[in-house]
Amino acid sequence: MKEKSIVLSLQNIKKKYDGLEVLKGISFDVRKGEVVVIIGPSGSGKSTLLRTINGFEKISDGHIFLDGELISNGKNCTEIRKRIGMVFQSYELFPHRNVLNNLILGPTKVLKKEKSKAIKEADVLLQRIGLVEKRLAYPRELSGGQKQRIAIARALIMNPDILLFDEVTASLDPEMVREVLDIMLELAKSGNTMIIVTHEMEFAKAVADRIIFIDHGKIAEESCAKNFFEHPKTKRAQKFLNIFSFAK
Ligand SMILES: Nc1ncnc2c1ncn2[C@@H]1O[C@H](COP(=O)(O)OP(=O)(O)OP(=O)(O)O)[C@@H](O)[C@H]1O
Ligand SMILES: [Mg+2]
Repeated sequence: MKEKSIVLSLQNIKKKYDGLEVLKGISFDVRKGEVVVIIGPSGSGKSTLLRTINGFEKISDGHIFLDGELISNGKNCTEIRKRIGMVFQSYELFPHRNVLNNLILGPTKVLKKEKSKAIKEADVLLQRIGLVEKRLAYPRELSGGQKQRIAIARALIMNPDILLFDEVTASLDPEMVREVLDIMLELAKSGNTMIIVTHEMEFAKAVADRIIFIDHGKIAEESCAKNFFEHPKTKRAQKFLNIFSFAK
């Protein structure tokens, strides 16, 4: 079978904050339609890594390529952000805009689409995430799970090359976690290219084509989900997974 093309390539990414090296040479590729899940202990550098990919953080060394084009040189930041969607733990919706206006802001202002076209696309997405009835609601009128589904739709409407998710269920009540994870599973099944940082191990197992385990700013282990969860190779990953099986 022909291998899918590489969407994102990270080559020896290093990041220092005032002398503290937080990322110590991270390299991996993500192919079209692939779902990569990044797990690792708190403070290991997962969020920093995602933020370097979409240009929120400048890297100290290394190269990042998107569809073969160098994007880590600090040029064309706006252009790059159009092509990389990111969803955060804290939703980051605009509080003074209703759902529809949150969704169409990017397409109309950044992609210069016609408003009527953007509204049509927003309605299709609202249907897909089951929130049509909330199209005129304000963020304060939504539950955490609903806000997060809107934040995902807002990333999707830009039709990005890759979607990055940073612990998007971490601040949700347990009953709302499922509705958000189900949408992400559906996105994975429909062929979206995704990098997901999560502490939800069952979800990681179900959604990941590949697991990357990061410890102290380095890739400590990388394998398919089945191998990682059933036969973790490193002591560090074994210990990490044990904590989760006790917590269940
Ligand atoms: N803006 C910053 N300035 C200085 N140090 C930072 C900054 N952001 C992160 N760090 C440090 O970088 C390291 C990695 O942080 P990061 O947020 O990437 O970890 P993480 O793996 O996402 O952790 P968690 O699972 O708790 O979210 C930590 O030691 C953190 O204190
Ligand atoms: Mg984090």
